[in-house]
Order: sequence, then C-alpha cells, then structure tokens
Amino acid sequence: MIVRPRRLRATPAMRRLVAETRLHPAELVLPMFVREGTSEPMPVTSMPGVVQHSLDSLRRAIAEAAEAGVGGVMLFGVPEHKDAVGSGATDPDGILNVATRAVVAEAGDALVVQTDLCLDEFTDHGHCGVLDAEGRVDNDASLLRYRDMAIAQAESGSQLLGLSGMMDGQVAAVRDALDAAGHPDVPLLGYAAKYASAFYGPFREAVQSSLEGDRRSYQLNPANAREGEREVLLDVEEGADIVMVKPAMSYLDVLAQAAAISPVPVWAYQVSGEYAMIEAAAAHGWIDRERAIAESVLSIKRAGADAVLTYFALELARSLR
Ligand code: PBG
Repeated sequence: MIVRPRRLRATPAMRRLVAETRLHPAELVLPMFVREGTSEPMPVTSMPGVVQHSLDSLRRAIAEAAEAGVGGVMLFGVPEHKDAVGSGATDPDGILNVATRAVVAEAGDALVVQTDLCLDEFTDHGHCGVLDAEGRVDNDASLLRYRDMAIAQAESGSQLLGLSGMMDGQVAAVRDALDAAGHPDVPLLGYAAKYASAFYGPFREAVQSSLEGDRRSYQLNPANAREGEREVLLDVEEGADIVMVKPAMSYLDVLAQAAAISPVPVWAYQVSGEYAMIEAAAAHGWIDRERAIAESVLSIKRAGADAVLTYFALELARSLR
C-alpha cells in the first residue's frame, strides 16, 4: 500500500496543520433579541441560554461579544404592541430603533451592529409584510413599508440591514429608498435563499409571533435548489452587498452552490431550531455539546459560508480564543 491517508490524521499537531477549514470569532454573528418594556432579561424556553434582552442587558451582552472578538450582532426587536402594518418598525421610538441607537456608539469599531429588516416581529398577524383586502401578503405594499423601515434603521445607526422579509424586489426597493434619503453607504444583506422552514419554530417564541398559517407564499420551497441560486443572482443584481442562505444545516448544498456563483460574500444562518436541536440532544446526554457546536458551524463554513449567524457565536468565539 503506497497511499495511506491516515498518515495525516495521526497526531493532533498534524491534523491541525492540514486542516482545510478554520473557525475564527471575527466571522461569527450573534443574533440577539431585545424586548420593549422589560427591565430584566427574559428566558426563551425553547432556546435554553437565549434571552429577550432589556436595553441594559443588551448593552452588557454586546460588550461581552465585542470582548470575545465576535464579528457582529444581528438585532431583533420584540415590541410591546403590534398592529396590522407593523408601526413599531418605522417609529424612531420603536424598540429596535431605540436599541440600535443605544448600542451603536458603545460598540464602536469592535463589531458590526446589524438589524433585522422585516415586519413580522411588529405585525399583529405575524406575516413579513402587510396584507391586502383578501388577507394575502401584498408584495408591493410591503416594499413601501420596508423602504421606511430601512430609513428608520439607517437613521438609528444600523451598520448593516438584514433584509429577511422575502418580498420580490426588496433589495432594489430598499437600496433606492436609502440612496434617496442620503444613506448610500449603508450596506444590505439580502436574505436571498431563505426557505420556508420548520426550523424557525423556537424563533417564533423568541419574538412572540402570533403567526397563524405559514410563510410558504414568500419563503422558498425546501424542495428547490435552483430557485435558491436564482434568488442569490437576483439579490446581487438588485444591489445586495452580501447574500444569505438560511437555514444552514439542511441547506448545505444550496450554500455550496451559492458560494460557487456569488460575486459577493455568502453568509449562512444557523437558525433557532438548529440551536434547539443541539441543546436538547446535549441536555439528554445524547451528543457531546461542545463538539456538536464546533462541528456544525465548521461544516457550514466548509460548505462555503464566509460568515455564520449562530446563537452559539459568543460561546464559540470564547472557546476559540
Ligand atoms: C423573519 C425572520 C425569521 C427568522 C429570522 N428572521 C422567522 C421567519 O422567517 O419565520 C428566524 C430565525 C431563527 O429561526 O433563528 N424576520
């Protein structure tokens, strides 16, 4: 036998030397929830270790993330009052905009403060857009709300807008609105290949979504890979500075393909249900928690992600230091 691949697996030092993929804190983004009207952080039951932050606890947690070298945070607002058009999203005094203003100066250059640009956290029906008279999600009317939401977020100091609503033309509409309002330098993260996934389950608790029904008329069908490619190309054409594939672990093929065709960075989102699965299995003693966390995020990188949004970002960043 001449070829013995095991030679390069024999010692920890050799394995480390020949590793093709490495994790680094700078390419991890921590999603965080901030809740209006609470003075204490509130646990999210289906995501052990994750909380809805108060403004104070958010500030402290962002300082910790910066200290650990995490590359960025993605903020989600949990408003006290929701309505049909998601008024809290465009109100400068809405929780997400208030929180952004509160943390951006403090974060300085230590990490990138990003905001979720989607209406679902703010609407009483829980959809990512506004509804027409028949109760269907109205694409073009929703774009008008996204335009205003983008301006409100940019004016709060958000350093990257995460367009996760999955309306057609959202990247172009938001780019146009920002440019017209004097914010040509605020970059856009287009959630290009965002699938209608069961793995968003715990997130719905985290943002107290009242959604009945599903998002299948705007998020992608899990059966379709080509459609994910098309959405990546469309978002790039419309001016996305970065594109996203989401969820991550069940869509590594889509991610690899996106990485192959995209001229802009490709990120992936290890979502709430992926987090919950690992935590639940580990709590039963069925998997080794730390190894599962590292392996899952490493696999997402290996498939082609330039950065990973993960609720494990802080812990992982600390373990990498
Ligand atoms: C929409 C949005 C969702 C998630 C992030 N942005 C929910 C959805 O589309 O149903 C899910 C993230 C997660 O599950 O961790 N604003």
